[in-house]
Amino acid sequence: MPNPATSPSTATARAPSNIAFVKYWGNLDDAARLPFNDSISMNLSAAHTTTTVTFDTALRTDTLTIDGRAYNPQHAADAVAIARVTHHLDSLRGLAGTTDRAAVVSVNSFPMGTGIASSASAFAALSVAAAAALGLALDERALSTVARRGSGSAARSVPDGFVRWYAAATDHDSFAASIAPATHWDLHDVVAIVSRAHKAVGSGGGHALAASSPLFAERIARLPARLAAVEAAIAARDVAALGEQIEAEALELHAVAMTSRPAVLYWDGATIELLHHVRRWRADGLAVWFTLDAGPNVHLICEGHVAPAVAAALAHLPYVESSLDNSPAAGARIIGPGEGRGPGAEHA
Ligand code: DP6
Repeated sequence: MPNPATSPSTATARAPSNIAFVKYWGNLDDAARLPFNDSISMNLSAAHTTTTVTFDTALRTDTLTIDGRAYNPQHAADAVAIARVTHHLDSLRGLAGTTDRAAVVSVNSFPMGTGIASSASAFAALSVAAAAALGLALDERALSTVARRGSGSAARSVPDGFVRWYAAATDHDSFAASIAPATHWDLHDVVAIVSRAHKAVGSGGGHALAASSPLFAERIARLPARLAAVEAAIAARDVAALGEQIEAEALELHAVAMTSRPAVLYWDGATIELLHHVRRWRADGLAVWFTLDAGPNVHLICEGHVAPAVAAALAHLPYVESSLDNSPAAGARIIGPGEGRGPGAEHA
């Protein structure tokens, strides 16, 4: 049943981006986005997408506006983005038994395409808003599954706080669930933005190449131990144990990318400078560790009481354009009418 507080044809959702401590890199099935391995992440408080989806019988095609720019279906790159949204909405339209087209309007709180996972927050917000606008009573697991099909990491932006996404061979078994609420631990991700340029190879291209690396099988073999260690470090709020794991994990992912055929190199000069800085700062007593996604920006992971010192240290580096301090965040939510409802609230 549609929630009476929400218009039957329009809804707005906000979803956080997330930073993976154990990464998603490579799919068993690229089209369905069934990953090779489980991953673990934290939702980010300052990096989120707010999306309004309005189904309208008067529209002949889906329309897309991101950060105030109306995407033009006559332009090739824009048409690809619109087609990805249409494909995603089609599966929800199928569930709702409608063919109505939608106007999708999205606003990001951070720059797209720079290593902060805009596709994670984008597809989580799109999934939750569209399901609500269509009056679909999907629980959190179902919404995470739907979001996963749009962008793998989006599965992890639906549940709250610290999240694990389960790999599985079948569509309905690969979803994410919370392993700890946002209040569990005041862990921060201070994102150092060294470049706002769009990536040459998107994460989709990287996933498709992952298995071509001679290091890929070794990475997969090591992941069960890595996942267990990361989950234990989060449970124990042990930042040093977590930090050691996530640095090794990020470097392994990039080693796979760099040894794929063709090789993918996501780092800038500033990226490697910053990795050295983090190690020096740590040797000098600052409890901070790094991780990296598929882009040049560096995510500095530390406890909340250390974050101001990390941000201050970054402010001295000329090649760091800006930084964004994130604490753990709740997952995707409907906002506006019915504000604050979790994805599963329609079952309540
Ligand atoms: C390096 O979820 O962006 O950030 O499913 O193709 O949209 P698609 O990929 P995406 O990949 C994220 C890759 C990563 C690691 C991670 O977030 O787990």
